[in-house]
Amino acid sequence: MMTSQLPLVLQILIAAVHPVMMLIAFLLTFFALHWGIQVRRTRNASGEEKKKLIKGKYNQQHFQLGSILLAVWIIGSLIGMVATYLLYSQIFLSPHLFGGLFVMMLGSIAAAAAPFMQQGKTWARTVHLCTIIPVLLLVFTQSVTGVELVIVMIKEFLGVG
Ligand code: HEM
Ligand code: HEM
Repeated sequence: MMTSQLPLVLQILIAAVHPVMMLIAFLLTFFALHWGIQVRRTRNASGEEKKKLIKGKYNQQHFQLGSILLAVWIIGSLIGMVATYLLYSQIFLSPHLFGGLFVMMLGSIAAAAAPFMQQGKTWARTVHLCTIIPVLLLVFTQSVTGVELVIVMIKEFLGVG
């Protein structure tokens, strides 16, 4: 049950910020994945193909978008938690909450591997992949549980929940 005494328009705005942010981040994740795969292809290619792939500057594009995504994951999760607290005066120990905490944790480890990957360290690439693959899976499951939360909240706003 929503307990907030804030004006309805403000409540709806508070509720909407996080889902909108995260849906945009969800779409951008596909570009980050695509460029990450191109980085790998570039590293493993040789001769003419490698020259061509290097011109794509996929490593730069991937690193830039990855950095932005990391910020959105962390700030977005915190906004989700603050929004929940403002509207319900509590935080629910739900799968969506724990999913969000794991995205923050694993995402920051994946990003921490960046300077070491750039020095060509194989272990850093392993760390990056072992942390980013669970993040990818979580981004999908968070989107499903997130849309479910949106439906619950819309029903509450309409007074039919
Ligand atoms: C959407 C999530 C992400 C996916 C799917 C992803 C995937 C990948 C893949 C497949 C590689 C290639 C590894 C290899 O060469 O074997 C890579 C490399 C890399 N990633 Fe990510 N990554 C993601 C997020 C991030 C984030 C958040 C950062 C940093 C803020 C980041 C920074 C890098 C860097 C610096 C490299 C090495 C580029 C180079 O070799 O110069 N990535 N990533
Ligand atoms: C990487 C993706 C996502 C992460 C890491 C994430 C994380 C979080 C976290 C930590 C919370 C606080 C939960 C609580 O305190 O009970 C939350 C709340 C919420 N999330 Fe997400 N989430 C993601 C994606 C989504 C998506 C795609 C949607 C909907 C389309 C969504 C909808 C919601 C809603 C409706 C809430 C309740 C508070 C609010 O309206 O802001 N989430 N999320």
